[in-house]
Amino acid sequence: MRMKFFIYGLALFIVSVATHFYLNTGFIFPVFILLLLVIGLFNSIQPKHAILRNFPILGYFRYAFESIAPEIQQYFIERNTNGKPFSRNERALAYQRAKNIDATTPFGTQLDINQSSYEGIKHSVFPAQVNHELPRVMVGGQDCSQPYSASLLNISAMSFGSLSENAIIALNNGAKKGNFYHNTGEGGLTEFHLKGGDVTWQIGTGYFGCRNEVGNFDPDKFTEKANNPLVKMIELKLSQGAKPGHGGVLPAKKNTEQIAKIRGVLPHTTILSPPNHSAFHDAAGLIKFITHLRQLSNGKPVGFKLCIGQTSEFELICQEMILQNSFPDFITVDGAEGGTGAAPLEFSDGVGMPFEPALIFVNKTLIRLNIRDKIRIIASGKIISGYSILRAVAMGADICNSARGFMFSLGCIQALRCNNNTCPTGVATQDKMLIKGLVVADKSERVFYFHKNTLHAANELLAAAGKSSYKEVDGSIFMRGDELTHLSDLYFPDILGSVRDS
Ligand SMILES: Cc1cc2nc3c(=O)[nH]c(=O)nc-3n(C[C@H](O)[C@H](O)[C@H](O)COP(=O)(O)O)c2cc1C
Repeated sequence: MRMKFFIYGLALFIVSVATHFYLNTGFIFPVFILLLLVIGLFNSIQPKHAILRNFPILGYFRYAFESIAPEIQQYFIERNTNGKPFSRNERALAYQRAKNIDATTPFGTQLDINQSSYEGIKHSVFPAQVNHELPRVMVGGQDCSQPYSASLLNISAMSFGSLSENAIIALNNGAKKGNFYHNTGEGGLTEFHLKGGDVTWQIGTGYFGCRNEVGNFDPDKFTEKANNPLVKMIELKLSQGAKPGHGGVLPAKKNTEQIAKIRGVLPHTTILSPPNHSAFHDAAGLIKFITHLRQLSNGKPVGFKLCIGQTSEFELICQEMILQNSFPDFITVDGAEGGTGAAPLEFSDGVGMPFEPALIFVNKTLIRLNIRDKIRIIASGKIISGYSILRAVAMGADICNSARGFMFSLGCIQALRCNNNTCPTGVATQDKMLIKGLVVADKSERVFYFHKNTLHAANELLAAAGKSSYKEVDGSIFMRGDELTHLSDLYFPDILGSVRDS
């Protein structure tokens, strides 16, 4: 291909020079061909890119198309129901709720509801009254002296660093207006989180904001921040669904001077939060550390977040709670389908237990050990609609967190660029120019409406199921496609047993 390029290129160059001299067509074309030949020559001898060595000019098209592959996928290929991680329909729902505009759909479902993957709510012929008050849940167990009344839906952990300052401020302002909490993520409690919204301060293995010079936990720094009145709860992060057992990654490009100062690290370097905590090394140490954090925060609710891996380890942690008679006020369960700013594909695709079995396992384990009443379960994993809230509650969640749902409310278009600082909407970037695109006043309203309208939709579904309280919700109000298709008699599900048997 290289030979052909040079033969045809030289021939074209000679023809263009000749037409310039004989027909006076100008010199722009010969100069352009010469430029391509020079670039081609350079590419054909450079050692790094095989495609450009073999296709010195055409090879550029590959890189150009590859760089806009997510856009091509989204604008031209994706159908309403099959975008990943969130379908166009799911994203549109979040946008409509956030903009507080009509979120109805025309002409019926686009899903194939005769598949085993179908899930639905068994509505009641006697629906309940829709409650217009948004639901709240008290968090705080036996050792907690400052219990917190949380909204059923809140902003899941996302750090300043992975999100821009405008995004964090808009989230916090929205949380303030809507009276729900904003989880800081492991990147530290910053001035952008302290705009008046309730805050859950998350502490990861990097102890950002409460670390000493060598990166270990610093109780004095912790005490000072934990006692800020805006900090309502403290969450110790053990792992998250997108990369359990891997720790956190802040790419060098996003580690600006400002972020480095907040976190107490070197700017412009890739920052890894280690996979493990240095403050404890086993279940007993974990429970003692939680007790310690609660004491330092003067009795605020303290819990931990994890993605379930080895179930026996979780059981061991629970047994240790019983042994020490000390319980976390909440446990946040993150499904393996959870999002992140940056993670190795092996971890995103192949590590950790998905949301549904994880939540059921945690709920059932706490019930089996007779400690369910002492601990609230917070759930996260693609909770983006009223339906997904109800589903999470049915599987054992007391409270729901959403990360990417609130990102959509900020204007995220699922461009899949969170990890390279080029997020076009200014949400997940530290590029000053891109951040300017995100107008805080407008987006904080959207955050507020997304929360309000999504919870209202959950209330409507609750009423449609004939229930007047989320405490009445369990798996019995849901049906699944396989419940219908796998029955011996395809047309009569078990609830119609009397008809089938007659
Ligand atoms: C941009 C981004 C940053 C995140 N940062 C954190 C973090 O600092 N700590 C954490 O525990 N989880 C983090 N997560 C995970 C979310 O808190 C949440 O657990 C996960 O995305 C599942 O929720 P979702 O499906 O609603 O997005 C992050 C997620 C995203 C998308």
